[in-house]
Amino acid sequence: MALAGLENNDLKLIIFGGKGGVGKTSCAIATALALSENFKTLLISTDPAHSLSDCLEQPIGFNLVTVAGTGNLSAIEVVAERALEVFVNENRTVLKKLLETSTNLDNQDIDELLTLSIPGIDEVMSFKTIIDYIEEGQFEKYVVDTAPTGHALRLISSPGMLDQWIKVAARMRWKYRYMITSFSGSYQQDEVDALLLSLKKTVKRIEKILGDNTQCEFIPVCIPEAMAIMETGRLLAKLGTSGIVARQMVVNNVMASEGCDFCVKRKAGQLPYLREINEKYSQLNRVEIPMFAGEIKGLAALKGLKNCLFEDNPISR
Ligand SMILES: Nc1ncnc2c1ncn2[C@@H]1O[C@H](COP(=O)(O)OP(=O)(O)OP(=O)(O)O)[C@@H](O)[C@H]1O
Ligand SMILES: [Mg+2]
Repeated sequence: MALAGLENNDLKLIIFGGKGGVGKTSCAIATALALSENFKTLLISTDPAHSLSDCLEQPIGFNLVTVAGTGNLSAIEVVAERALEVFVNENRTVLKKLLETSTNLDNQDIDELLTLSIPGIDEVMSFKTIIDYIEEGQFEKYVVDTAPTGHALRLISSPGMLDQWIKVAARMRWKYRYMITSFSGSYQQDEVDALLLSLKKTVKRIEKILGDNTQCEFIPVCIPEAMAIMETGRLLAKLGTSGIVARQMVVNNVMASEGCDFCVKRKAGQLPYLREINEKYSQLNRVEIPMFAGEIKGLAALKGLKNCLFEDNPISR
């Protein structure tokens, strides 16, 4: 079996997730390479421990770069703290006005508050960065490599978190608006209201794409081991509650049945888990990837993985 359907025109966002060390980054890059043969593709890492550079053996960073040795592949490592910093700097005056008009904090307190990271806000900003790229429309496909399960789930639930913050801010503003209206008889919307409205739109945009299975696909990566299977189960259950349905999964590191004694024994050990995966996820297209002799590093090795993921077939338009 090969990963299927990624060529569908509506499908923009492909997110890889799973337990630590199961092959998310390798599969995300290999998939992006396959897509880039026929689609303008952007590979995005949201993992704070970025490994695109290591895996591709070329520098990738917070600024978008073309991946050397490929035609149509660009890549970026989204640093959540940097994304948040950029947002605060771009909107500092408005954020200050929000706090000045809605709280009793003095100037110094406000400046200090703006340097603090609100829990979850960095993930929101990571996702906002992805959505901004998608809306800019420079690329046809966006492939996201995430950090292990917990982080991917926080990323997915980030619009809900941002929505909560907007609600709190809007409630704080309501008192200010009430006061202005009582004094002057009317209230004109200002730049703070405009910022809250634009953030609310961001939430809606993220929710819209995540909840639309034709535009967004989540591909879990698993290996035939007990803990990875349990974690994949939890991941898929949580995704389901967010309205995200997986259609297929990668089963990585599958040993060959023949060869040396060690390989045969390892494969025998994997068999019950492979059976469990096949029974538990019979509704998913399961793509088995062999355990390679060497690590997957550099374009040549990644192309080998790409050929396995797509059974040597290019992703055509
Ligand atoms: N099929 C495979 N055969 C051999 N080695 C593999 C295979 N898949 C992945 N690897 C190797 O396993 C290691 C982990 O892979 P990778 O970095 O892709 O996993 P990850 O899920 O992204 O890890 P993390 O959770 O740390 O981000 C890497 O050294 C990679 O080269
Ligand atoms: Mg990784």
